Amino acid sequence: MTDYLSFNAAEDLDAAEIDRINRDFYGRFNYPWRPLSLTALADPAFQARFLCQEAGDFDGTAVPADGDIWVAGCGTNQAVITALRFPGARVLGTDISTRSLEVAAETARQLGLTNLTLEEASLNEPRHEAAFDHVICTGVIHHNADPEVPLGTLARALRPCGVMELMVYNYYHRTHTTAFQKAIRTLSRASGRGGDIAAELPMTMQMVATFPQAGSMADFLALQRDLPEPAVADSLLQPVEYSYTVETLAALAARAGLALGQPCVNQFDRLSGQFSWDLALTGPAGEAFAALDDMRRWQVANLLMVEKSPMLWFYLGHGPGRRTRAEVNAEFLARPFCPATCETRTYILGEDGHYSLSPRAARLPAPAEPADPQARALFAASDGTAPMRALFDRLGLATDEAMVTRLRTHLTTPAFPYLVAA
Ligand SMILES: C[S@@+](CC[C@H](N)C(=O)[O-])C[C@H]1O[C@@H](n2cnc3c(N)ncnc32)[C@H](O)[C@@H]1O
Repeated sequence: MTDYLSFNAAEDLDAAEIDRINRDFYGRFNYPWRPLSLTALADPAFQARFLCQEAGDFDGTAVPADGDIWVAGCGTNQAVITALRFPGARVLGTDISTRSLEVAAETARQLGLTNLTLEEASLNEPRHEAAFDHVICTGVIHHNADPEVPLGTLARALRPCGVMELMVYNYYHRTHTTAFQKAIRTLSRASGRGGDIAAELPMTMQMVATFPQAGSMADFLALQRDLPEPAVADSLLQPVEYSYTVETLAALAARAGLALGQPCVNQFDRLSGQFSWDLALTGPAGEAFAALDDMRRWQVANLLMVEKSPMLWFYLGHGPGRRTRAEVNAEFLARPFCPATCETRTYILGEDGHYSLSPRAARLPAPAEPADPQARALFAASDGTAPMRALFDRLGLATDEAMVTRLRTHLTTPAFPYLVAA
């Protein structure tokens, strides 16, 4: 069985050749662009604790505040952002793009970061053995010749109880991008300059500016008009890309000795409000959906939500010991929780390209109370002694899995860092 969906991967090229193509591509288009502000956390345990909770570990032991973290394929910013969020951890950022690492190093220098090391290395050449408590790799392995190889590298590097955060493309999000990529590649070949970004970029920009055929491609290209060039290039010109469904991602993970754990609420889905894997089906279909195990439930949601399904952004761990969503929810209901807070510092990007510290003090969570009314009521009632189930009962809240998942997500995760298990 082919367990990925690919209509763009250059199957006749080997890993070293694809690495070279990616190095050139991300050397030309440094991804992502530098953010206007960066946030540093004062409490070294804050982010680690919420990360553990979202992954299903309410004791917060899997990723210690002073642990080892690897941001693999870190691009320009992700390793810096991670070092700021985990100030007590040792963070390693690696990438194959020399230029992206230079951008990251310059930002780290401006911020005076001392817990970050940057190295140029390919994930196709394994170097680490059980060396990291947390491995972050988002938007990387699907650009490789055989994503199984870099995923194997990540799996080997993860400690036995460690937590991996992985994102690969959701097939149902990539219809227009991969169709456009393949078309532009064919057009550039016909012009005698196949694979030549210098030839493909003007053709692409012209079609983004005006596309003659009304339809979903025209709508999609119109959305690219105001985006920075690296974003347009990453969507429309990527030379190599695979995409997955929940089912094919789970199969890929299993071959690397990994199991999909819980979904991770990422910044993109949070912004669009599209992060729930629960479908509001009714009648017999709703009952059947609720009875499915995690993997089949997420797969059905992936199939039926299509382009509105969340990104394939999950926590993974070494196979044995995977906790189901029902187990994580049961522990959430059994534990008492306390409100959490953390001071932050904000660095603002100036017009001269330098980050400087904002004089304005801020703290997490922001806003100070959950926006969701039911989550807000649970937050107000959490005093560190009564178990969550007693609070659900007191407030008359249902305890079906979908409801508990929604409220657990809105209260105890890095995207909504309101409560920590007492
Ligand atoms: C789309 S960017 C994502 C960057 C970053 N992970 C983020 O989410 O912001 C993909 C990055 O993966 C890097 N990359 C691709 N293949 C790689 C490999 N085999 N080893 C290391 N880095 C790789 C690219 O150079 C690029 O910086």
